[in-house]
Amino acid sequence: MDILGISCYYHDAAAVLLRDGKIVAAAEEERFSRVKHDYGFPRNAINFCLETGGIQGADLDHVVFFEKPFRKLDRILMSVLQTYPSSWKVFRESMITWMIDKLWVGSTIESQLGVSKNKVLFCEHHLSHAASAYLCSPFDEAAILTVDGVGEWVTGTFGVGRGNQIRLHKQMEFPHSLGLLYSAFTAFLGFEVNEGEYKVMGMAPYGQPRYVDKVWKLVEQNADGSFSLDMDYFCFHHSTDKTFNRRFVDLFGEPRPPKMQFYTEATGFPRYFGEAPANYSEECRLNQHYADIAASIQRVTEELLLGMARRLQEETGLKRLCIAGGVGLNSVANGRILRETPFDELYVQPAAGDGGGALGAALWAYHMLLGKPRNGCMEHAYWGQSYSSGEISSFLRENNIPHQQLDDDALLDGVVERLMRGKVIGWFQGRFEWGPRALGNRSIIADPRNPEMKDIVNAKIKFREPYRPFAPSVLAECTERYFDLPGAVRHYPARYMLYVVPVKTAEQSHLPAITHVDGTGRLQTVFRQHSPRYYQLIERFGQAAGVPVVLNTSFNLKGEPIVNTPANAFNTFSKSEMDCLVLENFLVEKN
Ligand SMILES: [Fe+2]
Repeated sequence: MDILGISCYYHDAAAVLLRDGKIVAAAEEERFSRVKHDYGFPRNAINFCLETGGIQGADLDHVVFFEKPFRKLDRILMSVLQTYPSSWKVFRESMITWMIDKLWVGSTIESQLGVSKNKVLFCEHHLSHAASAYLCSPFDEAAILTVDGVGEWVTGTFGVGRGNQIRLHKQMEFPHSLGLLYSAFTAFLGFEVNEGEYKVMGMAPYGQPRYVDKVWKLVEQNADGSFSLDMDYFCFHHSTDKTFNRRFVDLFGEPRPPKMQFYTEATGFPRYFGEAPANYSEECRLNQHYADIAASIQRVTEELLLGMARRLQEETGLKRLCIAGGVGLNSVANGRILRETPFDELYVQPAAGDGGGALGAALWAYHMLLGKPRNGCMEHAYWGQSYSSGEISSFLRENNIPHQQLDDDALLDGVVERLMRGKVIGWFQGRFEWGPRALGNRSIIADPRNPEMKDIVNAKIKFREPYRPFAPSVLAECTERYFDLPGAVRHYPARYMLYVVPVKTAEQSHLPAITHVDGTGRLQTVFRQHSPRYYQLIERFGQAAGVPVVLNTSFNLKGEPIVNTPANAFNTFSKSEMDCLVLENFLVEKN
């Protein structure tokens, strides 16, 4: 039985193909269209899924959309009526997109895929989120917490999964939204909403949470674990382009200008920014203020999530927790939930945000609607497109790109030797990853022992702000030597870089390039059976360097989606100052 799940028209469009309940292919549209966070109808991702499954649209048994369009329209109409006339603009703009796309998604699916109307199903947004975590998890019983910006009406749920069924027993509703609260601060701090949330999380450790009392003026946690926003500070419910209002600014001061460079006395002025400006100290002082605000919203978000998780644990008595929704990507909060609540195991799926809704919707149909039993869990994130040696070889030859083709041993030794010499390497292997993190198949890798490496990678490739941490990939069995994560191998979120944990104090000086300013790391545990070549590379690097850890950052330029094809990879390599490019067994070098 073939079921296609689709999510689109909101954040990250994606498609997933399940065959008899098992994932055949899963990918976000942005990897194909090269439009970051592409939310349009995922034609390319769907075609990729169908091709991988060797079928046509008409062969599908069901196509499942990740939310219910009419319920969402209902929410927009109701919130517009409540805040009319200030909401007129949001209403007009929403109606245009609704009329063009969303209400007709059923017909679009029918015509694009050639499937009949009775095969098209709709799952509720938060049920898609819940299913995307629980039904992929190794647990046969678990509590479920979903938290995001907003689905149809719902912004968060408490639930329980047992066997192949999920029951969501509590829900929080728009406009009370933790995701939208965090996004308001993302915008205030000068970043793009739905993109810059990671930057807020990365900036937070440079600040002190001095303003938590002020943030608590905006939000209150209720005794049942839910929360309420004071809407007097926000305008996302009646504006299309603003999330916070004048009262918010009166409380926190003027917003940070989007183009302002970030540095503090602690970071110093990064060399790759060029010459320090005359008003360096003044800018440091101002940035410190914004870092303190980032620390404050991050702290309150963590406290709210801890409060929700503790309450959910009390209600259910369960020891395992599945988290989904965009807030599930807050790996700092995930780490704290594991350490500070009675839950002793978490599952978060790599595409915890809206892209993952495509997966959840398909799993919902298969297990909950059709009653099929569970049959295994998601063990890794490698569900995207791969390219054969033949395809890569043709690409290199057709474009006259000088290269070497090496056997596995020579390739791995060659890469290790270059890493040891401080080279930065584009590493392209197998199927690209599902979700926003690069996990060793479309990664840029470097030596984590070199204290200069953060600046080198930033200067050569990423041009990122200095507060963005780089992640460590570590051999799963060696994790506990370097990171404070007891029982590391059983923690699935660590496979997907969804935990930030302390780097062991004694090891921090050995791993300066992946240790964040607060002594933590967003680690990825690497398993031999799931990524054999990446595992071997780290193993050999460990033999040469003494630490089985490499610095891993996503294979893209700033602002671009992670690479998909060999051509994407080569272009990124050419446009940056990366030293070498590895495409499967082919090695390309810059002189
Ligand atoms: Fe969502």
